[in-house]
Amino acid sequence: MRPAFVDCHSHVVPSGDDGAPSVEAGIALCQEAARHGTEILFATPHVWPHLTLTSSREAAIRESYASMRDHVGLELRLGWELTPTPDLLKEDPRRYVVEGTELVLMEVPFIGAADDLVALAELTDSAGLRPVIAHPERTEAVLDRPALADELAERGWLLQVNATSLLGRHGEDSADVGWDLLEREVATIVGSDGHRPSRPPHLDEAYSLVVRRFGEDRALPWFDGSALGVTPSRTASRAASRGV
Ligand SMILES: [Fe+2]
Repeated sequence: MRPAFVDCHSHVVPSGDDGAPSVEAGIALCQEAARHGTEILFATPHVWPHLTLTSSREAAIRESYASMRDHVGLELRLGWELTPTPDLLKEDPRRYVVEGTELVLMEVPFIGAADDLVALAELTDSAGLRPVIAHPERTEAVLDRPALADELAERGWLLQVNATSLLGRHGEDSADVGWDLLEREVATIVGSDGHRPSRPPHLDEAYSLVVRRFGEDRALPWFDGSALGVTPSRTASRAASRGV
């Protein structure tokens, strides 16, 4: 039986970024995710250097989120995806906690060095929170020097690989690094990073591939929220019925 998926990374709440352009489009993406087995979906609007989280933007996002959450067929939670910048180092990382967790999602910049990421993750760590590092396999810093991913993981930071990388949709190099990070258990989470119908918030296809390669027991923790400390209610009720 397919597990209930927990997806910690998506852009389904409209926020002015490159994700869902409207509440209606966001609801449709969430309903698609639910049909594909996701039970808890974290909406993580981008916080970019050129699109920061001003108070007016945050209020608009929270309003959209509140209007969506009862109409999506899954548990929708709100977080953020930080692109590391020196300015973010002046802020309290608690502002960006992913709802219901002690986690802060941040990406390795696609181009250039990872110095700002390391500094932001250290700041997050020092605030008693845990960094989740998004899609290292898609970034120049890790593709040039894959050992960087190991160094981040060795610090206790959670590494999240994109489902689409495993499916080969971001090129052969990202696929190879993504699979290697799973094989060696350097990465602990697979997320969709879903943005739009052509890049949807689905995990089921990647889950099938991961099961085929590594077996169900190894595959499950990458997809079921356990690495995040988040348990979908269907999983909880199954465990209760087994007396676990
Ligand atoms: Fe993202």
